[in-house]
Amino acid sequence: MRDVTLTEIYQHRIAQKYVTRSGLAHAIAVSYHAFRLAKEQGVDPDSAAKAGFLHDIGHYTWYKNGKWDYDLYKKNDIHAIKGAERAHKLLIRLGENPVKAKEIALAILFHTDSFMPGGEVIRTPLQSIVKRADELDEEPGGAHHYRTLEYDRALKSLQELDERIEKFLNQNE
Ligand SMILES: [Fe+2]
Repeated sequence: MRDVTLTEIYQHRIAQKYVTRSGLAHAIAVSYHAFRLAKEQGVDPDSAAKAGFLHDIGHYTWYKNGKWDYDLYKKNDIHAIKGAERAHKLLIRLGENPVKAKEIALAILFHTDSFMPGGEVIRTPLQSIVKRADELDEEPGGAHHYRTLEYDRALKSLQELDERIEKFLNQNE
């Protein structure tokens, strides 16, 4: 049994506010990729799917004179740090297992090198999966953040993924 479902996460107002901002379609695509990779590699697919769904929850916008400023964003971005904290708070609030909430938060923290001042991170399998899943859905110029998805379709996709996760976990108990 899982303590929290993707559907519950999605329906929480914090996810509605921030996941929607950084691209709901992208979040769901990364969640599906992470689920599949985790199954293939013998990693907990529930943690992978949750980290995939929440990986960009720390994004915020960098505007200058009413226009998106990519250079400013590149220079000052800490979305992985903010995302790890935000996701952790949300998961704990929803009743997630604290060990799992920490693992998911760390996978979000290390899903990108963008905030690291040089040097590669040595990642756990779960952390590598979330990074890979994100790369699989990336589009040039950050276009993946702007694909839109309606509330109901997103909900359906997440319910479907929840079912797949449950089925997998029941089979492998
Ligand atoms: Fe992403």
